[in-house]
Amino acid sequence: MKIRIYEDYEAVSQAAAEYMKEAIDTKPDVVIGYATGQSPIGMYRRLREAVRSGELDMSRTTGFNLDEYCGLEKGHPKSYKEFMKEHLFNDVPVRDAHIPDGNASDLKRECETYDGMIKAVGGLDIQILGIGENGHIGFNEPASSLLVETHVERLDEVTRRNHAVDFAGEDNVPTFALSMGVGGILKSRRVLVIASGKKKAKAIGAMVSGKVTTQCPASLLQLHPDVTVILDREAAEGLQCITV
Ligand code: F6R
Repeated sequence: MKIRIYEDYEAVSQAAAEYMKEAIDTKPDVVIGYATGQSPIGMYRRLREAVRSGELDMSRTTGFNLDEYCGLEKGHPKSYKEFMKEHLFNDVPVRDAHIPDGNASDLKRECETYDGMIKAVGGLDIQILGIGENGHIGFNEPASSLLVETHVERLDEVTRRNHAVDFAGEDNVPTFALSMGVGGILKSRRVLVIASGKKKAKAIGAMVSGKVTTQCPASLLQLHPDVTVILDREAAEGLQCITV
């Protein structure tokens, strides 16, 4: 893993945006796996600004989001579809942007179709990831086994607690989500992990130098040949507490 450490969230966002700009300039029809959450918001803002100023063109890019909640009504402000519109796609023309439909009548079929679409465009060039405090990536939660393909995932207690603020209480956080599988993430040609804040330190330590285990899904990234991790100082503190 290539680890880069910056002062704070703003510097992390700037570095991640530079990474993405370079990737898009090099391959204008790049296929991007998008993440939601706090971690990439600053990077998305910078990409929006770069597109607005004419410095960057994303019009030939294709996107696939990592995950989506199940059971939220269409247009729900906390759905990941709305998140992506707000933080990127309302202002940035792209060729295509896909997100799994968490309300599909046949969720299993929706997952298969989603993986089929990714395959049909030749796979992901870059997967953007945040990391959960419990080491999840996408919504692949710590478990005794993990799934390769896109699937329905039951959200972990830690994850639901961390998202409680978005839904005015933990009880309102959806119980299920669709998520790309760890296999799908590892198939991406490159992976960009963004993390900041003390709360992520432990998970970052486990991801980078802990045992490779399904109990910390991010640790499976150790098996990928091209992972760049962009951290702030607080998240990087975890690199000293190596877990075995
Ligand atoms: C979001 C996602 C999650 C988040 C993770 C970190 O699409 O798949 O794995 O990346 O929960 O979330 P933040 O960035 O809000 O700390």
